[in-house]
Amino acid sequence: MKPPIRIAVTGATGQIGYSLLYRIAAGDMFGHDQPIILQLHDITEAQSFFKGIIMELDDCAFPLLNQVIATDNLEVAFGDADFALLVGARPRGEKMERKDLLAANGPIFRQQGKTLNSVAKRNIKVLVVGNPANTNAFITLKNAPDLDPRNFSAMLRLDHNRALSQVAQKINVPVSKINKMIVWGNHSNTQFPDLSHATVENQKILELMTQDSDWINDTFIPTVQNRGSAIIAARQGKSSAASAANAIINHMRDWVFGTRENDWVSMGVLSTGCYDIPTGVIYSFPVTCKNGQYQIVEDLKITPSDHQRMQQSYQELLTEQEAIKNLFN
Ligand code: NAD
Ligand code: LMR
Repeated sequence: MKPPIRIAVTGATGQIGYSLLYRIAAGDMFGHDQPIILQLHDITEAQSFFKGIIMELDDCAFPLLNQVIATDNLEVAFGDADFALLVGARPRGEKMERKDLLAANGPIFRQQGKTLNSVAKRNIKVLVVGNPANTNAFITLKNAPDLDPRNFSAMLRLDHNRALSQVAQKINVPVSKINKMIVWGNHSNTQFPDLSHATVENQKILELMTQDSDWINDTFIPTVQNRGSAIIAARQGKSSAASAANAIINHMRDWVFGTRENDWVSMGVLSTGCYDIPTGVIYSFPVTCKNGQYQIVEDLKITPSDHQRMQQSYQELLTEQEAIKNLFN
């Protein structure tokens, strides 16, 4: 049997937590031969909710679950952690944009970055989910200068999955047959869901959709960009939770075990200057993963109008950073 790995989850008593913890404990994230210790964090006021969550974890009798730690102390939650899933943060309400959460949520990630820097394993992998995810991931990374910046990421996988699903339904094929989808940029409504490299069974999807450019521009792109708001409206004020938890599983699994042959996924990672996105933002790029490392897929051909969309999302990230630059140290 492998030694157990330690997985820290913040905001663990929240909605996403309730869809996520049981799947991690069942082995969906790190495999059915990998024992797990869950290090669950939430704020002091939420500690009483842990009782029922832990009773249910016990009642699942998960063979892989070695231990559950529940705490309001970040040092305990992040101590020796191999992975940190930073979910804890306020969700937006109707009529809010995700960036409206920066003032409330930004400081959470400053504190978490600092604590990760002092107590986490030196090769910890961190996924930021709490919104606005890209800028929160950047705040976390900037406050953890002793950790490798390549081990910090923001979640755009939900947007990627949404894009896959919209197209699969449109052309009536199973999602699994679609490869090379991309969602560029910020996890906000400036993100750019880009179909131009996507394939179905090795054929370019755009070649199958020559009559559908109106659908792409007027339906596909805005539907994916605004799906978070549509879910909040449909769930009467609650944001996506089951699909977000599923995307967390997909993101971490691919990062650790590798992406599919002849495919890539979208991950928010530190920009390197490629595609004219200067260094210094967490931006979603197409990446392949192997041996626990991601690699940005470079040198894709970008049309001038797509370039403009990608820049627009970059500019929004700069504006977000400007608003909270006091949180970078
Ligand atoms: P929720 O309100 O159900 O749960 C949030 C949890 O965070 C609560 O348990 C709360 O006590 C906790 N929390 C609050 N302040 C905290 C702090 N300082 N430290 C640690 N925990 C704290 O919300 P949810 O639906 O689980 O969503 C959580 C976050 O994830 C939100 O910001 C939401 O917008 C975001 N989200 C992101 C994506 C994405 O694709 N990136 C998708 C869905 C949701
Ligand atoms: C989502 O995309 O569903 C989440 O980021 C929640 C939100 O605020 O849209």
